[in-house]
Amino acid sequence: MKVYLNGAFVPLEDAKISVLDRGFIYGDGVYELVPVYAREPFRLPHHLARLQRSLDGIRLQNPHSDAQWTALIRELIEAQPFADQGVYLQVTRGVAKRDHAFPVGVPPTVFMMSNPLATPPADQVARGVAVVTAEDNRWRRCDLKTTSLLGNVLMRQLAADAGAVETVMFRDGYLTEASSSNVLVVIDGLIVAPPKDNLILPGITYDAAIDFAREGGVPFEIRPVTREEALGADEMWLSSSTKEVLAVTNVDGQPFAGGKPGPVFRRAWKAFQEAKGAVTA
Ligand code: PDD
Repeated sequence: MKVYLNGAFVPLEDAKISVLDRGFIYGDGVYELVPVYAREPFRLPHHLARLQRSLDGIRLQNPHSDAQWTALIRELIEAQPFADQGVYLQVTRGVAKRDHAFPVGVPPTVFMMSNPLATPPADQVARGVAVVTAEDNRWRRCDLKTTSLLGNVLMRQLAADAGAVETVMFRDGYLTEASSSNVLVVIDGLIVAPPKDNLILPGITYDAAIDFAREGGVPFEIRPVTREEALGADEMWLSSSTKEVLAVTNVDGQPFAGGKPGPVFRRAWKAFQEAKGAVTA
């Protein structure tokens, strides 16, 4: 497998970084994951805009223009033998003697790899998935896509321990998101999504789902969602670049929303598949 590291495309085995890299020492970096369908990146400009936002948020200069990123990503995609891919890219604050304060004059580390895109299996789409719930104990800059993911990792493991696919989180009685996906609910035919504030990642798939609702004439509302509303909703969905949209049909071991994906979900899923088709047409 060919990966990209600091200016060169190299075999994965040859891609090496220093143990002093601040990404390793501090988790001092940001990342993106871009889904690629039939070698076409999905909503790449949105991902590059969010990358810029994350870099600004951690006060790290963007090493590349959008045009340069696009060219590098396309070259990485072409170097893989498979067509549907998940391009992972990360930028860290580089290699320096360990000191919390930013190093001066140190180039960032830029790494990219692409793996086969693992979209949800058909039975998860048809039957929905199980989640567990937990209090959101992460920091208050969850809007930045940083490589410091320990909070998310510990949350995701709660789901893994319970044989569920995600951990849906609440902070002070309000729905935030899941450990590696956004959460939307449907109440009385209305899609309700929590606002993209500092407590959740502004998901590209969340935006896509809202765009499909707008285009398809499905009413939606962006507002805080209480725990009671979320747990009593008619439908709950997960959204992410790798999950696309998935219906939640079991919460904390109990059947949820009748135990099967709802009608609004099925429309959104269909719209998503059509949008994927349009990318590659
Ligand atoms: N995760 N919230 C969190 C905490 C996430 O990690 C992700 C994505 C999302 C959904 O964002 P998007 O729709 O842009 O993929 C929401 C990616 C897939 C990951 O870390 O692998």
